[in-house]
Amino acid sequence: MKFLSYIVIFLFGTACSSEKDDYVPVTLENPKLEFTVPANFPEPSYNVSLNPPTEKGFELGKKLFYEGRLASDGVVSCGFCHIQDFAFTHHTHIVSHGVDGALGTRNAQPLHNMAFMKEFTWDGAAIHLDLQPIIPITAEVEMNESFSSIIKKLEERPEYVKLFSEAFENQKINSENILKALSQFMIMMVSADSKYDKIERNEGSVFTEQEAAGFELFKSKCASCHAGTLFTDQSYRNNGLSVDPQYNDLGRKRVTGLDEDLHKFKVPSLRNIELTFPYMHDGRLKTLNDVLDHYSNGMVDSPTLDPVFKNTDTSLGILMTDLEKEQIIAFLKTLTDDNFVADSRFSEF
Ligand code: HEC
Ligand code: HEC
Repeated sequence: MKFLSYIVIFLFGTACSSEKDDYVPVTLENPKLEFTVPANFPEPSYNVSLNPPTEKGFELGKKLFYEGRLASDGVVSCGFCHIQDFAFTHHTHIVSHGVDGALGTRNAQPLHNMAFMKEFTWDGAAIHLDLQPIIPITAEVEMNESFSSIIKKLEERPEYVKLFSEAFENQKINSENILKALSQFMIMMVSADSKYDKIERNEGSVFTEQEAAGFELFKSKCASCHAGTLFTDQSYRNNGLSVDPQYNDLGRKRVTGLDEDLHKFKVPSLRNIELTFPYMHDGRLKTLNDVLDHYSNGMVDSPTLDPVFKNTDTSLGILMTDLEKEQIIAFLKTLTDDNFVADSRFSEF
């Protein structure tokens, strides 16, 4: 099934970008939504001009995001695994639960600032945001559904017939428009209103002494990978987690086939990290304390372990005292964006 998804992705990859009916109508009834890049953010990777969010497109994307009909059991919507209160993660679950309680192998990722990401999922299997939802929709352990069946179900609902016709020039309920609407919803999900942001933009906030000390430590010990204002350099690295024999997740190698990518995973953004527990690709670490203990003394050596973790005295990891760990955690909590998780534009009800 996974293999099939990749073929679909490949086909879409060529079809998606240049069709004539890409044009999204912006009319008085369907005004354009302003996609604003926060002053402290880089330019988006998503080409917003090819799929500019409109009021109706966004409304449709949101409705689809919370729509159980996208899954074979009528229940497991995107929002089932991506819960707003926890920055759109499935925090009670270590690995995701799909239809019929089927278990996935990975921890659901937060959804925020997707417009600024180049590749998606823990191993970068999806190379465009418009294509990413094909994976959960068609995966047996996630939504276990096909586009033809979804389209049939949506065509029976007058509210969808209306919304698709208002949102897209060709008025069609088809897979391309489903994916575009989902992207319009997801690209608007920008999280840039944390205490850290307010400080970075000189909006009057200041770090406590502990947070300021944590920020200095973070810059010297963590920011080589969790870089810049997105807190990720978007590379794939091995941060020394032991291999879980139950899943034997190959990481980036699953996508590239290269031995040098074995057990490398995408460096995650640390925004809203206080809310997105449990941590790591398989959710094995429960708390931020556990994460810092892993970095200081939990690492396992392997040929692909990132060289920054190999110390000259042959020990592994990042040296940190307990006080330093507390300071780093205090800093990480300044990345929580309460307005984002409470923003009713993104809520189901
Ligand atoms: C069964 C739980 C589940 C459902 C349902 C689900 N997801 Fe996810 N989502 C995940 C998991 C787990 C990952 C990480 C996947 C991986 O690394 O292979 C993920 C990753 C993602 C990502 C990539 C995030 C990043 O930072 O790269 C996006 C975007 C996303 N999901 C959107 C959606 C959308 C849209 C839907 C509905 C069409 C959806 N998801 C349905 C569990 C789920
Ligand atoms: C060499 C690159 C690198 C460095 C340095 C690094 N990290 Fe990471 N970090 C990663 C990668 C890669 C992952 C994801 C690993 C996985 O899930 O397999 C990760 C995961 C995490 C997570 C879990 C995120 C989530 O969404 O589950 C946290 C929290 C974290 N790192 C914090 C830190 C802190 C704090 C430091 C400094 C003390 C640090 N990292 C240093 C690469 C790095």
